Amino acid sequence: RTRVAIFISGRGSNMTALIEAARDPAFPAEIALVLSNNPDAPGLRTASDTGIPTLAIDHRPHRRDREAHEREIDAALVEAGIGLVCLAGYMRLLTPFLTSRWQGRMLNIHPSLLPAFPGLHTHERALAAGVKLHGCTVHLVTEIMDEGPIVGQAAILVRPDDTPALLGERVLAQEHRLYPAALARHLGAGAPTEQADRTLLSV
Ligand code: GAR
Repeated sequence: RTRVAIFISGRGSNMTALIEAARDPAFPAEIALVLSNNPDAPGLRTASDTGIPTLAIDHRPHRRDREAHEREIDAALVEAGIGLVCLAGYMRLLTPFLTSRWQGRMLNIHPSLLPAFPGLHTHERALAAGVKLHGCTVHLVTEIMDEGPIVGQAAILVRPDDTPALLGERVLAQEHRLYPAALARHLGAGAPTEQADRTLLSV
């Protein structure tokens, strides 16, 4: 099984979904490390409660030197024998230092159907644009934020009476289904592509 590190900055509900999936010995990844730039991220506690090693590498001492922060992160990943990184609500922009070192070995989950709505406030922007389909995307990380080859997507219908909060809740439920499926797919396991995609279509 591939040793995976999950990067979080806050709550960590996607992290929990990945941890749950990896409890199955047939799942192709084991969660070997949870890392956060925020020592107070609630998800760190959740992870350590389940016995997973956690590490907080605060970005604040490195405010003026992003790469120094990333050098510390990279050393920790190598030390832990990590083969793949999953960004899950990690709210720091990465520099080419880390994205190039982990190219092809770093996934991100984003709360929109990319390439629509990269960046923040995706649910508000989806409603304002009047889209009828919305959802979430797991993609490989490149040096451009919220770009990179798409591994999987899950789609939902936007309802006429939706609010950003209601829409966000339904998308989050899909994120929790999508991320484990996309990770398994990326590692060459899981359901055949077409079948997996059909189960991720909740319209
Ligand atoms: C998720 O909705 C994730 O897609 C989003 O932050 C949330 C984290 O929730 N990520 C981004 O917006 C990245 N730009 P979680 O901590 O409960 O998984």
